[in-house]
Amino acid sequence: MNGIFSSSLKRLCATAAGVALLCVFCGTAAAQQNTVRITYDPSSRVFRMDAADVTYVLGVNEQEQVQTLYWGKRLSSNDAFPPAHSPRGYSGFDLPITITQHEFVGSGGGLYLEPDLKIAFPDGNRDLALKYVSYKIEGDALSIVMRDISREVYVTLHYVLDAETGVIRRWAEIENRTGAPFEIEQAAAGTYNLPRGADYHLHFLTGRWAGEWNVEDEAIRGGKIVLESRRGTTGSQNNPFFAIDRDISKDQEQGDVYFGALAWSGSWQITVEQDALQQVHITGGLGAFDFGYHLGPGQNFETPAFYGGFSDQGLGGASRLMHRLEIDTIVPNAPHPRLRPVLYNSWEATEFNVDEAGQVALAEKAASIGVERFVMDDGWFGQRKNDHAGLGDWYVNPQKFPNGLKPLIDKVHSLGMEFGLWVEPEMVNPDSDLYRSHPDWVLNFPGRPRTEGRNQLVLNLARPDVRAYVVGSLEKLLAENQIDFLKWDYNRNWSEPGWPDVPPEDEKNVYYDFTRNFYGILAELRATHPKLEIESCSGGGSRVDLGVMQYTDQDWPSDNTNPADRLLIQNGFTYAYSPGLMVAWVTDSGNSLGRPAFNLPFRFLSSMQGALGVGANLNKYTPEDFAVAKRFIAEYKTIRETVQRGSLYRILPPESGSEQSATEYVSRDGSQVVVFAFLRSSLEHYAYPTLKLEGLDVSAMYQLAAFAGKAVNGTPAVASGAYWMQHGLDTGLNGDFQAAGFTLEKVVGQR
Ligand code: GLA
Repeated sequence: MNGIFSSSLKRLCATAAGVALLCVFCGTAAAQQNTVRITYDPSSRVFRMDAADVTYVLGVNEQEQVQTLYWGKRLSSNDAFPPAHSPRGYSGFDLPITITQHEFVGSGGGLYLEPDLKIAFPDGNRDLALKYVSYKIEGDALSIVMRDISREVYVTLHYVLDAETGVIRRWAEIENRTGAPFEIEQAAAGTYNLPRGADYHLHFLTGRWAGEWNVEDEAIRGGKIVLESRRGTTGSQNNPFFAIDRDISKDQEQGDVYFGALAWSGSWQITVEQDALQQVHITGGLGAFDFGYHLGPGQNFETPAFYGGFSDQGLGGASRLMHRLEIDTIVPNAPHPRLRPVLYNSWEATEFNVDEAGQVALAEKAASIGVERFVMDDGWFGQRKNDHAGLGDWYVNPQKFPNGLKPLIDKVHSLGMEFGLWVEPEMVNPDSDLYRSHPDWVLNFPGRPRTEGRNQLVLNLARPDVRAYVVGSLEKLLAENQIDFLKWDYNRNWSEPGWPDVPPEDEKNVYYDFTRNFYGILAELRATHPKLEIESCSGGGSRVDLGVMQYTDQDWPSDNTNPADRLLIQNGFTYAYSPGLMVAWVTDSGNSLGRPAFNLPFRFLSSMQGALGVGANLNKYTPEDFAVAKRFIAEYKTIRETVQRGSLYRILPPESGSEQSATEYVSRDGSQVVVFAFLRSSLEHYAYPTLKLEGLDVSAMYQLAAFAGKAVNGTPAVASGAYWMQHGLDTGLNGDFQAAGFTLEKVVGQR
């Protein structure tokens, strides 16, 4: 990764402070874009990291605390930093420790800020004072070891920089060398500190089932804002993502933005806190609510990673860096994951009423319009007739599929499509063979109610026997059937999170071990079935995060497939996550009262902004519908690389109640531009805005073509990047649920 360090220098630099001078030498090498540069200056005890357009600087102060000195736009390599200084206390009420820009701080010594680590020792002591011990620089990674002043608790802070985006991946490793167990009561990956300022705004994502991905913002004032999930999994009430800017101008493309996200699919928290000196601290890690981890002597505990990045190109720039990070470094097969195939899913057409003949009929119709992957949803297993029974029994229902799944799968394959199947492996219905034989396998407190959600209970995945059962039943399913894809669902959150089979002091380990085992199962299945692809679904978008993304190829943002609602839902999703991972089906949703509320082109254009799928009841399609669907799917295949891998510009976000929205995607090589424009409803005869494009080459010429709707007002067929960006494109959209789609192709050799 690091093009600066020669391997021998790297080895020398990898040693601790003793040979620090050599690292200064490493650090004087010329900076280049798209490389990572990490240096240590032993005279000032300052560490400096540079990658892409970002510089991150930290130092060891005279209290031996590790302190942030700078995070922001890349500085000159000649800029030197003075040593870190512990601040004087603000007053007797705000001691130095609570106004220091700590990279990682233990709970104790008069700290009122959110701690990164809180430990309760068996002798009752709950004071933890971590001091700098040593460091290591290895290529694109820096690690710093800290230790408590009197107890053998070691914490290693890890920093890995991404050369292309400048995004930092941070996590901490806690080591118990005290000779006795202790209880971790709170653990974060680390803290990001912002330059002092009273004008910061937090942008974050909230939501609920069928209404995920609302974009919210809030001024950061004195005190603490908490984004979190107390639910056992990621949740949609908040998503573990933040973006902070200094100006609430609503301009998507301007201004400094600090952003970040947690790679964790269990309970989590991100706190944003302004202290007495108006310094802002962002701490992210495991959710503190009901948390505990009993760490035995000699054991290590690794926190989830907390990614952090900086953009001076507004929220749009921050999103593009997140998208690039995900596609190029996080998802399976990064940096070259497969483009998402166009899928068909049977759920909204058949719900639980699946059988061979019905699915074959849908598969034939799906193939005829150009679908590449056919997915059979819920209802195929156990005694599953509705959502009251069957979860946990992963055998093929013999009444619905008397010949097993093979004839259906063979048929799907013979139609040239991949075959996918819905599963929900972490759950069990009380009405199931599994629950009847293993009632002790669910999360529960003995003698207490077992609260059901969607008539189901949560299996305790932290238990080795449950983990083995889940792996075994899925392995059997995959061995007996040629399954190319699993839609992995998760349809409720936790209640009564007890684990009665372990000693009481270990029970809370469930919060961590459950999620680790979830990842372990996904990793194991992928290792034994390298071609298998998996979608993360949780009754919609309740488990979308950078953690699960390491093991899954795509994400389901919402069960709400109404194409107008989806404009908002998908807009919010893209603040944090790539459109190339966002599955969007064209369905019949909204067709109540027996009349189509939305025309089919509107539906297709809404879904073509992500990974296109179809979930409509194709048995009801007319010949005209089939023709429209076929045309749009064919069109999508010519633009999908741009949509899924390109740079997204939210040129008209459907926020603050706006009826209008437009998105633009520029391919990585800049040769193709795709524009979607939507109008939910014309209000008071206002004309649709002229769309000023972004991210084009000002002097190149681009040829415009409409694949839906049209350009009006004498829009030229060919014009310069400058024209499209400064004059813009007129769509003339007018009426209700109107949409248009355009491509602009760069004209080769013409400037
Ligand atoms: C969840 C999913 C849906 C569908 C149903 C099946 O709600 O989000 O897409 O798979 O379960 O029961």
